[in-house]
Amino acid sequence: MKHIAVLTGGGDCPGLNAVIRAVVRTASGYGLKITGVRDGFKGLIHGHLTPLDLASASGLLHRGGTILGTTNRDNPFHYAVKEGGELRYTDMSGQVMANLKRWAIDGLIVIGGDGSLSIARDFHRLGLPVVGVPKTIDNDLSATDVTFGFDSAVTTAVDALDRLHTTAESHHRVMLLEVMGRYAGWIALHAGIAGGADVIVIPEIPYTTTKIIDAINRRLTSGKRFSIIVVAEGAKPVGGDYTVQRLVPGSHEQIRLGGVSHRIAAEIEEQTGLETRVTILGHLQRGGSPTPRDRLLASRFGVHAVKMLMSGEFGRMAALHGGDIVSVPLDEATGKLKTVPPDCHLLAEARCLGISFGD
Ligand code: F6P
Repeated sequence: MKHIAVLTGGGDCPGLNAVIRAVVRTASGYGLKITGVRDGFKGLIHGHLTPLDLASASGLLHRGGTILGTTNRDNPFHYAVKEGGELRYTDMSGQVMANLKRWAIDGLIVIGGDGSLSIARDFHRLGLPVVGVPKTIDNDLSATDVTFGFDSAVTTAVDALDRLHTTAESHHRVMLLEVMGRYAGWIALHAGIAGGADVIVIPEIPYTTTKIIDAINRRLTSGKRFSIIVVAEGAKPVGGDYTVQRLVPGSHEQIRLGGVSHRIAAEIEEQTGLETRVTILGHLQRGGSPTPRDRLLASRFGVHAVKMLMSGEFGRMAALHGGDIVSVPLDEATGKLKTVPPDCHLLAEARCLGISFGD
């Protein structure tokens, strides 16, 4: 292994730059040449490359975002090209393989969520020496205890809840905070417990508004004139409303149609007469500096990704198991999202704390 490349794919999150820095530092220790790929897999198709060294990777530990850039939608196996004003999908994986050979890249590190790591897995099946690093604020990747980015997102959400508490209390209002989590309620669950929420609504537990209102009324009876509700963007009512679930937070479509938290808020206000307000945290959860815990995890993942390439552990992903970084097959890590299981200890503990899940 003489020359490695690194790319960031999918939605960004705090800690991506910390991984890049760790990759560069570790690879430099082995005397490797390091190339950064710009804008995810698209860069591998179009040859958007940039050399990385200790100087270019300096000052990155605390910086949010990714210096390499990223995109959500450029899958080389199913690549959109415009022809005569029409979109056509084509397989560019062969070109990527040929490009990597031409550029004499011996190993690739893909830092991404389920989508990007599934692409990495498919390239490994074509024979590419590739390793993965798990990122996502949603913490919904299988085969690792936790992904980097999650702790930073939870920290941002808890800060928002602390702020909402004081204004909710002053105005005797019901405050809803909508957090990210299209398929999994991990951010809502962790932030809700740490931020003292009264109700947490997650995609895994369909809600009824009546049950949410019951929780608000119980607080009123006990003399608490305000309530805090955390809603994951993918939450759905009993009976299921999947159109809401697919809306991207902060997207024009979501604003037009009203996200799930707006629907819940309108029903609460209508049925209780209590003033109810909604805050959608959206992409604030993805921006800014990583927390110390995420810097540490991202750095450890970066070190291990290089070591995995050096020891020939291809087609695998760095993962946190207990306190240790291990490597797991990409086949095991991809294709099945880790949602909050019904027997999750945290759920039971939250219920003991008096938190309602609207069920
Ligand atoms: O997958 C991570 C995630 O943060 C989701 O929680 C959220 O629904 C989505 O990305 C938002 O994506 P985009 O950046 O495309 O708006």
